[in-house]
Amino acid sequence: MNISIAIDGPAGAGKSTIAKLVGDRYSLMYINTGAMYRAVTLKAMQNNIKPDNTEELVELINNLDMHFQGEKLIVNGQDVTEEIYMPIISKNVSYYSTIKEVREKLVELQRRIAQKYSVIMDGRDIGTVVLKDAKLKIFLTASAETRANRRYKELEEKGIEVNYEEILEDIKKRDYIDSNREISPLTKAEDAIEIDSSNLDIPGVVDKISYYIDGIK
Ligand code: C5P
Repeated sequence: MNISIAIDGPAGAGKSTIAKLVGDRYSLMYINTGAMYRAVTLKAMQNNIKPDNTEELVELINNLDMHFQGEKLIVNGQDVTEEIYMPIISKNVSYYSTIKEVREKLVELQRRIAQKYSVIMDGRDIGTVVLKDAKLKIFLTASAETRANRRYKELEEKGIEVNYEEILEDIKKRDYIDSNREISPLTKAEDAIEIDSSNLDIPGVVDKISYYIDGIK
């Protein structure tokens, strides 16, 4: 039987880094749902479709073929993995993610993947909506400043020119929109285990999660 592990939390808490490592350790497929919302945002923006233009947005989504190839996200045959992390996408993604039709389509796709494979899936609504029956739910947090610092270093390493204050502001704004939207807001599932990673290094968090996984196997 397939097992599912859900990791939710705010922007920049380290979800993807951690989920990838835990996935490798336990042979679970890693599904980055934030990348999927980013890909919809990228394609919508390329086609000049605003978040409130539901009709065109739905048509766009219905024509998107999205799948993961290892860590790469392929959309209509094109590798968008790098492009979706450009600051312009980070600035706009939360607006597209509030749209009901966008969420319905992506949630359906995420559930289909989890039915087929054992997964570790990260996002905002995985434990509360997408995989309510996940074997283990983790809510990963860190202070906004810690998260902004990490994002800054990550982007700098990729050679993308960035400003720390701007990233911090963007993170706070996304936290606000993601936590206050009407549909599937970012919130800790009742049965999720909260881990604050502000003072933990990556192996420390991976070990902590591994401890809980070993408990369910
Ligand atoms: O995880 P990441 O920071 O890349 O996610 C980008 C954005 O996608 C989030 O700020 C949020 O607006 C949206 N998102 C979402 N639900 C998810 C994953 C991401 O609304 N499950």
